[in-house]
Amino acid sequence: MELPPGPRAPAAWQTIAWMARPAGFMRRVHAEFGDPATIRTFWTEQPMVLFSHPDAVRQVFGLDPAIAPAGQSWEFVRPFAGEHSILVLDGDEHLLERRLLQKPFHGERMRGFRPIVTELAQKEFAAWSGRVVTLERMRELTLEIMLRVIFGAQHGDELARLQAAIDATLEGVRSLPRVLAMALVRRDLGPRSPWGRFRVAVEHFDALLLDFLARRRHDPGRDSLLAHLFDQRDQHGDPVSDRHIRDQLVALLVGGHDSSAASLAWAFERLARHPAVRARLRDGDPAYLDAVVKEVLRARPALTIAPRLLLAPVEIAGRQLPAGVQVAACLWLALRREDLWPDASAFRPERWLDGSSHDSMSWIPFGGGVRRCAGAPFAEMEMREVLRAAAELSIRPVRPESERARRSMLVVVPDRGGEIFVG
Ligand code: HEM
Repeated sequence: MELPPGPRAPAAWQTIAWMARPAGFMRRVHAEFGDPATIRTFWTEQPMVLFSHPDAVRQVFGLDPAIAPAGQSWEFVRPFAGEHSILVLDGDEHLLERRLLQKPFHGERMRGFRPIVTELAQKEFAAWSGRVVTLERMRELTLEIMLRVIFGAQHGDELARLQAAIDATLEGVRSLPRVLAMALVRRDLGPRSPWGRFRVAVEHFDALLLDFLARRRHDPGRDSLLAHLFDQRDQHGDPVSDRHIRDQLVALLVGGHDSSAASLAWAFERLARHPAVRARLRDGDPAYLDAVVKEVLRARPALTIAPRLLLAPVEIAGRQLPAGVQVAACLWLALRREDLWPDASAFRPERWLDGSSHDSMSWIPFGGGVRRCAGAPFAEMEMREVLRAAAELSIRPVRPESERARRSMLVVVPDRGGEIFVG
């Protein structure tokens, strides 16, 4: 079975383009080969077929998980994510885990997290002046928010140590050369090699977190998410083990930290270059704030693909695809197609308020189907509250030209870190 066309350049070259200049790479692939197109990178062991038309995206998200599992596409995060992680599970186990994790991020409970986000964001912005690399600051803020939401306000010193250990672990996989080295050499070659250093950081983090959980099981703090996690029961009605809770916490911390930080850094990168949008934001209209968040997620999505590994042949958009390839809804292309989004490259929150309608499968920054982002309502609320708290800041870009996208672990970030000048 022939795969859809795609670049003929060696996989090493495609990997570098995919990592260093993802937006340009996807744009060129789409312009030259159309939809679908096949890319070959070291990101996954199999070739990957990218789809971006809403009809095809709907089919990708609707694929039976038994023949198109998503967990196997995230296999490479298993050493950190853990064997119980929602990210690597599929089928019934995945659905059970999803129900457990999603519960606290809805309704009344979710609304209860708003004051925490506002308080931490206001504290953060009070210290801003001069040149600020917003990505660095947003990484710290979103991690602090997740830690406060999960563990509550107590345990100050312990949380600071956990925060440092998480940062050290993620730092190892954020640098481009190190991620390239890890993608190329998929083995641990000792404590000084990229995989070895990552393993050592994960072991240190695990020791801290498991010790913390063992001590907190009987005193988790009344309103923290941790209390809810300790109360869970598995399918046999037994309490969930500390190791399992560790994997859930990592899924929330990893899922809810870098993606939100990248999206907020992009928000500052865009807002700094759009004074009229900033002025309208200051008016305080909640509908406009929501439109800004939606437009940031459309124009600069933090994740570029939602991949699934085919275990059996399937037909998508009239194309027969064999088992053993990855198929992906290409979020980035779907969100940037000119035929779906008039003037797609423009940052124009007004498009969300002018009454025009969009196919639900064209606005997909959170993926879709049974794997759609489990934290999406929280992520949108967090972005709204952080941008609301930032509305009065006087900001401008450090350099006038827009920042390009580069990959940092699983997300794409502004290549100069969303740098702005405050004051
Ligand atoms: C703007 C911020 C965020 C973006 C753009 C984002 C995007 C995504 C995407 C694209 C996926 C994969 C969906 C798919 O394969 O179809 C995903 C999965 C996930 N996200 Fe998010 N996310 C964000 C914030 C969060 C937050 C705040 C949390 C937790 C509180 C979170 C937790 C998760 C989890 C647990 C999964 C795995 C879901 C599953 O496999 O069933 N994310 N996210």
